[in-house]
Amino acid sequence: MKIPLNRFICVTGVSGSGKTTLVREVLWPALEAKLKSQIANPKSAKTADPIEEEHDNDDSPSTSNQQPSTTLTGWEHLGRVVLVDQSTLGKTPRSNPAVYIGAFDDLRELFARTDAARQRGLSASAFSFNSGQGQCERCRGAGFEKIEMQFLSDVFIRCPDCDGRRYRPHILEVKVRCPSSVVSGKKSGRKKATDNGLQATDKGWSIADLLEATVDEVIEFLAAFPESRAAGRATEKLKLLQEVGLGYLRLGQPINTLSGGESQRLKLVSHLAEAATQVGRGVPTAPLPTPDTSPADGPLRTAGPTLFLFDEPTTGLHFDDVRLLLKVFQRLVDAGHSVLVIEHNLDVIKCADWIIDLGPEAGDEGGQIVAQGIPEKIAACEASHTGRFLQGMAETRCRMSRTPCRRTSATNVRAAEHGVPAEKQHESTP
Ligand SMILES: Nc1ncnc2c1ncn2[C@@H]1O[C@H](COP(=O)(O)OP(=O)(O)OP(=O)(O)O)[C@@H](O)[C@H]1O
Ligand SMILES: [Mg+2]
Ligand SMILES: [Zn+2]
Repeated sequence: MKIPLNRFICVTGVSGSGKTTLVREVLWPALEAKLKSQIANPKSAKTADPIEEEHDNDDSPSTSNQQPSTTLTGWEHLGRVVLVDQSTLGKTPRSNPAVYIGAFDDLRELFARTDAARQRGLSASAFSFNSGQGQCERCRGAGFEKIEMQFLSDVFIRCPDCDGRRYRPHILEVKVRCPSSVVSGKKSGRKKATDNGLQATDKGWSIADLLEATVDEVIEFLAAFPESRAAGRATEKLKLLQEVGLGYLRLGQPINTLSGGESQRLKLVSHLAEAATQVGRGVPTAPLPTPDTSPADGPLRTAGPTLFLFDEPTTGLHFDDVRLLLKVFQRLVDAGHSVLVIEHNLDVIKCADWIIDLGPEAGDEGGQIVAQGIPEKIAACEASHTGRFLQGMAETRCRMSRTPCRRTSATNVRAAEHGVPAEKQHESTP
């Protein structure tokens, strides 16, 4: 199996053909073991030249519990492998989207810099609902109380002391106000916030108001503070949530209540935010140097080029959200990373730079690589079910590729330059 790096790759095949098994139980652990051994013993990394990563596997992965014998080559071109799945982000209701992507630190700093906070001697940590300094003493910052019901699931009720607002009164008195010049020009934003029950918008927002607002509303609010670096950093991170279609989430929504698809996109955003911080100049909107051309001290060197693995990330997504997600994948590829996605969605598959099609059927009849290569090659493969569907999509493929995947043709050209010429993309058997 070949995985061209710095590309968008789809693993396809009928349900039960072994896609998840291959990615989760073979590729991911094997690659992680290699990368960990490199961290433990950096000198052992060999400097191989092929850009692609090969992965041979003699056993059928689904038949054995122990690590199948796997040979990986080219892994040293990667710094990290990350599995972004739909599992929940934790059972505790104490985290939320703002905390998870690191924007809450910036927002707390914004509050700590107000005159009211300075007069009261409140630091940024006082604005954390997890800190004893500012949290409601009764619910300890949770906003609700848990009542254990014997034999039944726990019941949560709104905290009567703070009325679900999580903080002590002296913290809620500290408000961030829009500079008046900006307020007068932002009537629509204020009205929207009031419609959603955010009191005292004219008098400024408390930290609890912020947690009750949606990502979209907070971005709009923060736009009134162009000179604040903390507001700028928070906005950058929150915009990533908007980009993956999560602008409707409330900043304070407990993370354990997110759906599988929401959790997966939030994880993706946390990686994007991290990459942006590493680069140190915001979100990489312009292409960064690719790993193979950048000098050793390139901006992404800290973690190195990453291989992101997704198992059916578009499940349950609306078509518009699928388009947003494809744009984010494209940005990761532009920034020098590789994205490998298990997909059934043909609108995604047809945008791939490279397809690995498993099958031919499910269960014992599956587990083989039916075809691998660029989409045109899969479409031409008689034995591939995916190929037959791709054939029927020849026209839509052109139309789609104009928007999110315009760059894929360019990356395919690069693939050829880097030693993956189309004529060498041979089929292989496991
Ligand atoms: N632990 C296991 N024991 C026995 N069979 C298994 C085990 N795990 C997976 N299988 C079988 O291996 C085959 C491949 O499963 P896998 O989950 O990899 O399929 P998939 O291609 O990801 O399918 P889907 O598209 O439905 O997610 C299936 O027939 C599945 O029933
Ligand atoms: Mg699967
Ligand atoms: Zn309380």
